Amino acid sequence: MKISIDSLKDSNEFLNTLLDNITSAIFVTDKDIRIQSFNDSFRSLFYKDEDKLLGELCGNAIGCIYTVREKANCGSTSNCNNCTLRSSLLSAFLEKVPTHRSILKREFQIKDRIIQKYFQFSTRNITFNHEDMVMVIVDDVTEIHEQKKTLDEKNQKLEIINKQKNELIGIAAHDLRNPLSVINSFSEIMLEALEDLKTENLREMLQILKKTSHFTLQLLNDLLDFSKIESGTLELKKVKLNYIDFLKANILQNEFFAVQKNMKITLEASVSEIPLVFDPRRIEQVMNNLLSNAIKYSFPGNKIKVKVTFKNDSIATSIEDSGQGIPEKDLPYIFQPFRQVSVKPTDNEKSTGLGLAIVKKILDFHEGKIMVESKPGEGSTFTFYLPLY
Ligand SMILES: Nc1ncnc2c1ncn2[C@@H]1O[C@H](COP(=O)(O)OP(=O)(O)OP(=O)(O)O)[C@@H](O)[C@H]1O
Ligand SMILES: [Mg+2]
Repeated sequence: MKISIDSLKDSNEFLNTLLDNITSAIFVTDKDIRIQSFNDSFRSLFYKDEDKLLGELCGNAIGCIYTVREKANCGSTSNCNNCTLRSSLLSAFLEKVPTHRSILKREFQIKDRIIQKYFQFSTRNITFNHEDMVMVIVDDVTEIHEQKKTLDEKNQKLEIINKQKNELIGIAAHDLRNPLSVINSFSEIMLEALEDLKTENLREMLQILKKTSHFTLQLLNDLLDFSKIESGTLELKKVKLNYIDFLKANILQNEFFAVQKNMKITLEASVSEIPLVFDPRRIEQVMNNLLSNAIKYSFPGNKIKVKVTFKNDSIATSIEDSGQGIPEKDLPYIFQPFRQVSVKPTDNEKSTGLGLAIVKKILDFHEGKIMVESKPGEGSTFTFYLPLY
């Protein structure tokens, strides 16, 4: 036997069974927003007896927190103008506009407990005993909502971790490039000229190889620490050193790259000794990045000057080049990670756009800062400040 759904709808038994077994809470209100009918699920959702629901104003019946806290009737609380359920019911009565799966987020007093709930509700206009009524179908989506919230939070955390991981890979590639290219070129030279090299030259080159590979290893450890910078847990290993000696050693190391582009790095300082407390490995990273930029973005023969001055309670170290300079419009972006601007390397050198981002973070950790002055065609001066005390 085939039964059409329309004929089932005419069956009172069918409708009653449906209403009392459906998991959605269903209720009907009159134009005064008083509850005139409801199903079993509605009663179990709000834990109310029939006599406390029938004829009651909707918000009072379901324990809307505003009616409870303000001891006011539904329709006269401070929130009634913002209530999505109330505005849906009003537009159903006044404009005959139904609502489809709207969300009501609210605290309710249910069984003497204040509970935050997320309801999804729809409204439909119906006529009952020749009177206009509105039927409301409510689903409690609190659990799904809470699960989604936890999932979103987890996803957000994963996204941050993933971004940090990608940054770290980029940084590793970036900062390992310099020492590895030294190791590579030295071993090549040694292999090519092995027969002609004297023991003394060999020893010198091996020493450079040893020193550079040691530095590479140290750097690798530093890079693993870099994730700690992001999470704010990086520990600086500060020591007291003569800052001028430190700079001299660093410049010597970077001259290896400068001479390949026929450049010279000079140091200008009014004193020969500045006792300073800082993390030499990190500030070495800062110097390497700034000097490699000065070399990379200048033309062969250009001069590079490292200048040290006292500025109030800080030591200012300027790396001054006479290269291409940076257009003003690009300046706000150069310290952002992975950001390369319109200025390109002059000898096809590699560029990942991470150097200055690393520099800035290391200086932040030293409670220092970095500034840049630049004029296209004239050159750039990057000045970083380290606190003296
Ligand atoms: N001394 C400089 N002269 C001209 N432009 C510069 C100078 N230093 C940095 N820039 C510009 O700022 C951008 C960002 O510099 P940053 O050091 O962060 O990255 P990079 O040099 O491109 O790559 P990486 O340092 O990661 O190898 C560079 O791409 C370049 O356009
Ligand atoms: Mg760089």
